[in-house]
Amino acid sequence: MDAVRRRFGETAGALAALQDARHEETVERVARLLGLSGSERVLDVGCGAGAIALAVAGTAREVVGVDVVPELLAEARARAASNVSFVAADATALPFARGEFDVVCCARVFHHVPRPELVLAEMTRVLRAGGTMLVVDQLAPDDPLAAIELNRFEHARDPSTSRVLADVDLRGLFDANGLVLHAVEYVREERELELYLDRAACHGAAREEARALAPGDPSGRYGWYVLHKPSFGG
Ligand SMILES: C[S@@+](CC[C@H](N)C(=O)[O-])C[C@H]1O[C@@H](n2cnc3c(N)ncnc32)[C@H](O)[C@@H]1O
Repeated sequence: MDAVRRRFGETAGALAALQDARHEETVERVARLLGLSGSERVLDVGCGAGAIALAVAGTAREVVGVDVVPELLAEARARAASNVSFVAADATALPFARGEFDVVCCARVFHHVPRPELVLAEMTRVLRAGGTMLVVDQLAPDDPLAAIELNRFEHARDPSTSRVLADVDLRGLFDANGLVLHAVEYVREERELELYLDRAACHGAAREEARALAPGDPSGRYGWYVLHKPSFGG
């Protein structure tokens, strides 16, 4: 948690600027994947500067974002519409009752937490039966050795990275929580190595180490998973 607070406290402005640049694309993708009716209460877990929360605000009744980094919450609040609020809270202990939300989202967070299964269990708890979940994260290769190599690089670049999971790992976590996969989109994010290192404030010896471990193509592959929590029997 300290590494997360340090990394994102230092880079909050840059993360918010990247989010702003991607806003229209995010609005379009989230609208297509979630198909909200306008009546939903939505939770964005590990909201950062509010990327997903702000993207769904126009099509939801109410949106709540939670994060542990005050600098990011300040960036998020500065952009919030009247139906969006942001709360300081740990994703592994959400301050909400069972089934409070119609939709629960979590983007690019699992690889920053040592126990992502605890986050997913909390997300499942606060989602109502019959509700929808959106999980987005970078994917490691399915080949375990290639996944170890990617994780060495990602950790050298950003010590707040715990582990980038593979598609098969994420699907196992979804199954363990009784979630049913409704749709998935795989999205490639083009990256230029030096800009990617800048984004994590990776400097000095750490930057040299990360450069040495960098894959030939540092672009990222992301999974956008839409899941349903069954109304009965789950
Ligand atoms: C890469 S950022 C993604 C932010 C945002 N969801 C987005 O897509 O732009 C990862 C986020 O996870 C948050 N985070 C990491 N561990 C957390 C925890 N235990 N509880 C809540 N948020 C956490 C960080 O503070 C950061 O905002």
